[in-house]
Amino acid sequence: MKYIIGVDLGTSATKTVLFDETGKRIASKSCEYEMLQPQNGWAEQNPADWYNAAIETISFVVSHSGVNKEDVVSLGISGQMHGLVILDEACRVLRPAILWCDQRTAKECEEITNKLGHDTLISITANPALTGFTASKILWVKNNEPEIFEKCRHIMLPKDYLRFRLTGVFATEVSDASGMQLLDVPNRKWSDVMIDAVGIKEEYLPKVYESPEVTGYIDSLTAEKTGLTTNVAVVGGAGDNAAAAIGMGVCEEGKAFTTIGTSGVVFAHTDSPVIDSRGRVHTFCCAVPGAWHVMGVTQGAGLSLQWFKNQFCFKEAKQALETGKPVYQITDNMASEIPIGCENLLYLPYLMGERTPHLDPDCRGVFFGMSAMHKKAHFIRAVMEGVTYSLYDCLCVLHEMNIQPEAMLLCGGGSRSDLWKGMVCDTFGINVETADSADAAALGVAILAAVGAKLYPDVKTACKAMISSLPSITYPNNENTYLYRKYHKLYSSLYSSLKNNFKELAAL
Ligand code: XUL
Repeated sequence: MKYIIGVDLGTSATKTVLFDETGKRIASKSCEYEMLQPQNGWAEQNPADWYNAAIETISFVVSHSGVNKEDVVSLGISGQMHGLVILDEACRVLRPAILWCDQRTAKECEEITNKLGHDTLISITANPALTGFTASKILWVKNNEPEIFEKCRHIMLPKDYLRFRLTGVFATEVSDASGMQLLDVPNRKWSDVMIDAVGIKEEYLPKVYESPEVTGYIDSLTAEKTGLTTNVAVVGGAGDNAAAAIGMGVCEEGKAFTTIGTSGVVFAHTDSPVIDSRGRVHTFCCAVPGAWHVMGVTQGAGLSLQWFKNQFCFKEAKQALETGKPVYQITDNMASEIPIGCENLLYLPYLMGERTPHLDPDCRGVFFGMSAMHKKAHFIRAVMEGVTYSLYDCLCVLHEMNIQPEAMLLCGGGSRSDLWKGMVCDTFGINVETADSADAAALGVAILAAVGAKLYPDVKTACKAMISSLPSITYPNNENTYLYRKYHKLYSSLYSSLKNNFKELAAL
């Protein structure tokens, strides 16, 4: 039996899972770290924290799995997308990484759009200039920290920094590179036009691979620290959403999933690069060579509930400690007591600005309709409903593009809540399937790594062999769909009403 490792470098933690070649989970370990928010709308992390977490978790799974280390053949890395990591000539990190949810680059996005024009940007990168994406972050460093930009010689994404530390190789792959806004997405290679527009050199960027290709091998320092051998191949891997798609078998046209993680995503596989001319959803290369995916993103999904819990649910946290019940089970029970619509309390989940469908870094979270009769439970439910409406906005854009998934797989932390699952199912008005997806991204890159190690001939065959969990299906309730859609209509109009106020607020 051969073994494969999937490392998922997330925003709140890095999780590493060791699988056998049939996809069975043998050992797993996660290690959390902080997200720094030095200013409103900024989000940073220290790349050293990712590296330490990866070494700790890889060593753990190697030593606790009881497998012969010679039988671990390959490793894949999945990562939070879009983050900017820059290194100097001596490969030292020049500043904290600027993350996907950081919104500081509105001016730089304007600069890129003015330089190239909206249509050129869409035709090359398949997306408009976005604050979350890496290109505008590079320009921000150039405009605001010229002394740091001067010294920059290597530019990479979070998971590719980790790859560099594990293997000594600078490499990336098409799915994550699509989110840098430097890739020619339809042609799956770096774009000279984009590289010129941000004022860097192509040599600063890593070599681009397809996701299952071998990019290098574990180096001797990593081998010494983790217990792996230097024969472990490290494949391209994938951005976290493209990786989760593979881990759930979303690798052919017609298949789709929704994730409620820190961010929320509605993702559909496509065999051709279908692009929304208004740029409301992203079109990226996917981890299946020669295919793409379309996805809508809401910035503050699980983040919204986590924020609310951290700020206001001290009593529930204490109860969780005392009873051993997960705190989200307690908040779920409270929210279940409240009717759909929360007795007229609505929440807009724009804590970190929004992407789909508004593309607005300046909008912020709102509770609308608060009354003295509302209790904490109403607020909890309103947060969950608001996030669900935002995900439904993403699905509506896919429908406009003629992408009509018949059913939706649901994953991410939010999928563990029956209440949230029901809300998504009823609001979307389609069957929702959940499977054991806790490690979907790690399994996804392990599948890619199994293909890289030639245990399987291609991604689809590997998915069939390595994904075993059977989905459980939830069916929509028409009456609930009617109610949720009524509230969604008002929810949608609130953004239009507040759009200018958000701008005013940001300018204060
Ligand atoms: C996708 C995106 C997020 C991050 C963090 O475009 O920004 O999903 O990858 O998970």
